[in-house]
Amino acid sequence: MRGKFITFEGCEGVGKSRQIKMLEEYLAVNNKQYYLTREPGGTPVSEQIRGVILDGKNTTMTDECEALLYAAARVQLLKENVKPRLDRGELVLCDRYIDSSLAYQGYARGLGVDFVEKINDYAIRNFMPDYTVFLKLPPEIAFKRKGGVDKNDRLELSGMEFHNKVYEGYLDLAKRYPERFIVIDASGEREETHKKIINALKEKGVI
Ligand code: TYD
Repeated sequence: MRGKFITFEGCEGVGKSRQIKMLEEYLAVNNKQYYLTREPGGTPVSEQIRGVILDGKNTTMTDECEALLYAAARVQLLKENVKPRLDRGELVLCDRYIDSSLAYQGYARGLGVDFVEKINDYAIRNFMPDYTVFLKLPPEIAFKRKGGVDKNDRLELSGMEFHNKVYEGYLDLAKRYPERFIVIDASGEREETHKKIINALKEKGVI
């Protein structure tokens, strides 16, 4: 049986990395095997692509180029790391996946969901996660929590209007794919959000 493929999504500074770390600790304590990876990255080739995409010096990068690079990094990760593990029945966790492209490039950059879906269909042949944990927190609150923008990160430097569009995009995706999306209110304490994630994943029979 194919293993479960779970992705994590959210705007910058929502505490996604922290929550994934807490989930890892929970899985370790409970003796549950898993494989964690991230996007863009997760393989040597994809990590090199990540370097190009996020480099703050690449100010001339077109939106289309950006979307295609994310899709390229994604298919490399999928084929090299994710699929073989799922085929062996493993649990695979991925920090961001296609919904990031839909929210950031499709909605916020304005390329449109259709365009982004098309190039991703071409790259990943509709290989979708079983569940997507979306940490819901408006960007203004997230950036305040995080203590401002990372000046070396091209995506973080895109401005508040951009990040609000990303957020709206995610909310729209959650409505479009209610079976797949697990929406978690991330406005409370870390521990509270962690418990919500654990409960939701248990409820879905993932852990
Ligand atoms: P990262 O430092 O990993 O951010 P985070 O900790 O918020 O996940 O950088 C990844 C950045 O790339 C982040 O700003 C979201 C963006 N991104 C896209 O715009 N499209 C995509 O398809 C993916 C996977 C990420």
